[in-house]
Parts: sequence; structure tokens; C-alpha cells
Amino acid sequence: MKALILSGGKGTRLRPLTYTCAKQLVPVANKPVLFRVIEAIVAAGITDIGIVVGDTAPEIKAAAGDGSQWEAKITYIQQQAPLGLAHAVKISEDFLTNDRFVMFLGDNVIEGGVTALVEQFTASDWNAQIVLKSVPNPQQFGVAELDSGRIIRLVEKPAEPKSDLAVVGIYMFDRTIFKAVNSIEPSWRGELEITDAIQYLVDEGQKVYPYIHKGWWIDTGKMEDMLTANRLILEALEYRMEGSVDSKSQLVGKVIIEEGAEIINSVIRGPAIIGEHTRIVNSYIGPFTSIYHHCLIEETEIEFSMVLENSRIVDIEQRIDHSLIGRNVEVTKSSVKPRAYRLVLGDHSRVGIL
Ligand code: DAU
Repeated sequence: MKALILSGGKGTRLRPLTYTCAKQLVPVANKPVLFRVIEAIVAAGITDIGIVVGDTAPEIKAAAGDGSQWEAKITYIQQQAPLGLAHAVKISEDFLTNDRFVMFLGDNVIEGGVTALVEQFTASDWNAQIVLKSVPNPQQFGVAELDSGRIIRLVEKPAEPKSDLAVVGIYMFDRTIFKAVNSIEPSWRGELEITDAIQYLVDEGQKVYPYIHKGWWIDTGKMEDMLTANRLILEALEYRMEGSVDSKSQLVGKVIIEEGAEIINSVIRGPAIIGEHTRIVNSYIGPFTSIYHHCLIEETEIEFSMVLENSRIVDIEQRIDHSLIGRNVEVTKSSVKPRAYRLVLGDHSRVGIL
């Protein structure tokens, strides 16, 4: 069994973060989403992993390397343009050869991993198994229709969904999928759709079965979803203390202090994680907050937020809430006259001001 992770694509819905960072590398609860995907695959016993990469290939290769940090072997497969999920399968045939494989979208996070799914598919003679989840907004996803326990129809983002079963970005295939991806035509959006390839398998009479996922699943493609994934993962993490906390500080609930982090005269109310070598000084960090490595939070209150690497937030009077703050960002109080907001914001930034 092999694994194929899709980490090409453009990440336009996560701008401005993705101008400078592959969306699969945005750390959720202080760990890149892609690393969580790799860990889930390795936990299912699969160590031969292909990663499809696009424009952000150098960054993804630098982060995941040859896979030895997970005792896995990673092969990179370059996709010249994001021409669709089925296109990504097509260009990966030389890597996948005759093996059955799990395909995992590199920006998806799923509760409980994929071990049960991989076991079920391995024990079956099915040609494909598609992870589905009942959701309130199926029109934003691929949607499946079932009959007698089998998948009979799949439609990509239908205006009028025939069921509430969304296609989660996790799929199991055998090599019949290659004939399918080589037979379909691009969709109206110019992509070779994996939903069309799976429909091709169904129409050819192949055995295509669902796997109904009961836990949570987040496609971290949008900011709101990132914050939700961050909350859900933080809730599941265990207390860990690798940094230092002075006697004037107070940690409440499930808090993780990573190596070299310093908490000085501050209150941290979990679930929350403070990254390596980050300093929290005279501040309040509220629930569902992840502060990544090498940050400074001083004289500030912040909750239900994510702050990425090397950012400084100093002397902010009002509490920061529900915010996603990128890398190398500076938010400070200014004493310069005249009193005014002084903003340097990239394209697609969003600021809510009191
Ligand atoms: O998240 C689940 C949904 O993922 C499914 O319900 C849909 O059926 C499926 O088509 C897909 O829809 P998205 O519109 O969310 O796909 P997106 O373009 O965001 O791409 C998902 C991942 O695959 C992302 O990590 C980038 C990568 N990708 C995407 C394309 C189009 C590639 O590696 N190559 C590509 O050509």
C-alpha cells in the first residue's frame, strides 16, 4: 500500500497568508497541516509516500524532506499547474505502479486518522472507497449518492445536492483509477475532476464503496476553517511543559508550553499552545489560541486566535479575538503624533477596528 498526498494548488482562499507560505504548511495548533496528514498515514502503517507539489515545491521539500523524520520515504511528484485532483493522480502513475493507495488532500485534517479506513479497504476486493461525511453545506464539496450501500453518483459542488454526504479529501484506489483519469475530459472549471474519474469507475461497474466518517473533519482552505481546526486539535492535545513559567504567572486548563518558551507575569487559559522560544510578557492568552515559534506577546490580551512565526504583538489595549496573524507581523501601539492608525497591510488583508 502506498500514499499520495496532494499539496499542489494555489491556496487563493487563504490569502494573504498563502502569498508567502504554502497553505499545507500553515501550522494548526503549532504543527503544519501537511505534517498531521503524514503522521496519520504513517500511523496506518504506510511509509511509501508520494507528495504532489506545485509552485510551492521548494518550501514543501524543505519542510518534509525525505520523510526520515517519520521513518517514511517521500517521493516528490511535480505538477506543472493545478489541473485537477485527477490530473495529480495521472502524473503519479509511475510512482504508484500497481499498488493500492490512499490519496489524501494535503490541507485536510480528520479526527482519528485513516487507520480504520486503510484496514477496511485492504481486507476488501473493492476498486475504490471514498470517505464521506454528512455536512450542513454539501454544495461546497463533492457530493455522493448511495444505493444499497454503494456509491452510485458523485457530483462536484452541485447547486442542488441530492444528499448531505460530502466527499472528504481522502480516497482509496486500486489501479483501475488510471484508466478513469485517462478517459475523462476537463470540467467547466478546466480541471480533471476526481469526482468525474470516480463516476467513470461507477459507470464501468467497478466496486466503489463509501466510508462514512463520524468524527470531525476540516478542509482548512479558508481562515474560518483554520481557526476551527485549531480549536478542535487543541482540545485533543495533552498538557506539556517544556519551557519556563515564572511564579507570577498562572496556567489554567490544558496548556502546552514548548521548548524554550517563557511565560512572564501572564495568564494562559487553555486549551492553548505557546511555541518554541516565544515570550509571553504581562499578557493574557485565552482559550483556543496557538502562538507559534519565536513570537513576542507583551501587554496584550488575545484569544481564539492563531499567531504564526516570528510575530510581535505589543501594548494593545483592546483584546484581540478570532484573528489569524501571519509570519513576521508587527502589531504595536504607536506614540507618534498625530494619533492615528498606521497600517501596512498586504493585498487581501482584513482588519476589524474598534
Ligand atoms: O476538501 C474536500 C473537497 O476537496 C472535496 O469535497 C471535493 O470533491 C474535491 O474536489 C476537493 O475540492 P477543493 O475545491 O477543496 O479542492 P482544492 O482545489 O482546494 O484542492 C485540494 C488540495 O489538492 C489542495 O491541498 C491542493 C491540492 N491540489 C489541487 C489541485 C486542483 C493539487 O495538488 N493539484 C491540483 O491540481
